[in-house]
Amino acid sequence: MNHQLTHTSIPDPSPAHRGSAPADAGAPGVARARHGPGAPSLFTPMSFRSDFTAAYPELERVCREIGFGPGLSLGRWCTSPDWALLELARSASPPQPSAACDWSQAEIDELITCLVEHHHRPLRHELRRLGILARNLAHCYVNARLSTLDQAFVQLETALCAHLDNEEDEVFPRCLAIETANRGHQDGTGSRIDVTTAIRMMASGHAQSMQDCAAVQAALDAAMGEIANSDLVLVHRGMNALVADFAVHTALEDGILVPAALFAEEQYDASRQDPDAASPGPRLAYAQD
Ligand SMILES: [Fe+2]
Ligand SMILES: [Fe+2]
Repeated sequence: MNHQLTHTSIPDPSPAHRGSAPADAGAPGVARARHGPGAPSLFTPMSFRSDFTAAYPELERVCREIGFGPGLSLGRWCTSPDWALLELARSASPPQPSAACDWSQAEIDELITCLVEHHHRPLRHELRRLGILARNLAHCYVNARLSTLDQAFVQLETALCAHLDNEEDEVFPRCLAIETANRGHQDGTGSRIDVTTAIRMMASGHAQSMQDCAAVQAALDAAMGEIANSDLVLVHRGMNALVADFAVHTALEDGILVPAALFAEEQYDASRQDPDAASPGPRLAYAQD
């Protein structure tokens, strides 16, 4: 049975309300926060105001209105920050698409930097932001459509974050190691660097993520067909932008990084067999010939 959604689900942001709910009530908590250099921690209690406004400048106004200032993380500023996370998630807009680039004269490390900074990082932010909204809907209303949407989003968020982790922890370092080796700098271990296996895993992750995105969009369409709710509209808008950017992102990986890395691997294997063989270097244009 579907219950009509008649009220907004945002918790009371008044100071009296702060600290009154359990610390993890309705909290996200599905996607693990990455810990490491440059790892984003947005839309978590560990986030600082500057983290929010760097990624979403429009949140400056909301931070000011709710009194979330610099100097303290969200969790230190407010012991039960779920209402603030929800307000911030609602007030942020999907990031602008990154500008198209000519990669023909670039090198592998430049492409990887672009992928991490302009696609992975905003994607992680958006997964957390939209996850907060989807989970809040399922948490606040008894509705089968919203439960299905929440479950589909959990699957997407979990699998896609694992995919990004795998690329950053396995695929990209191997591509960079091949590039380094082809420049004549060996890693000292003498063991062969295997890029092909990592790339196969990356390709299967893309197919899985596309399926997971489609499942979320189908669940959203079904929910919006019978429920009028402004948060559903926000999730729908965010998912459209996320899917569009993911298409650009995977096209860069499958269409440019993969052939360049495989080409570099061939050169690397040839140079291991014949150390005197000249390596032409890893410019991405070689992969597009
Ligand atoms: Fe990626
Ligand atoms: Fe990928």
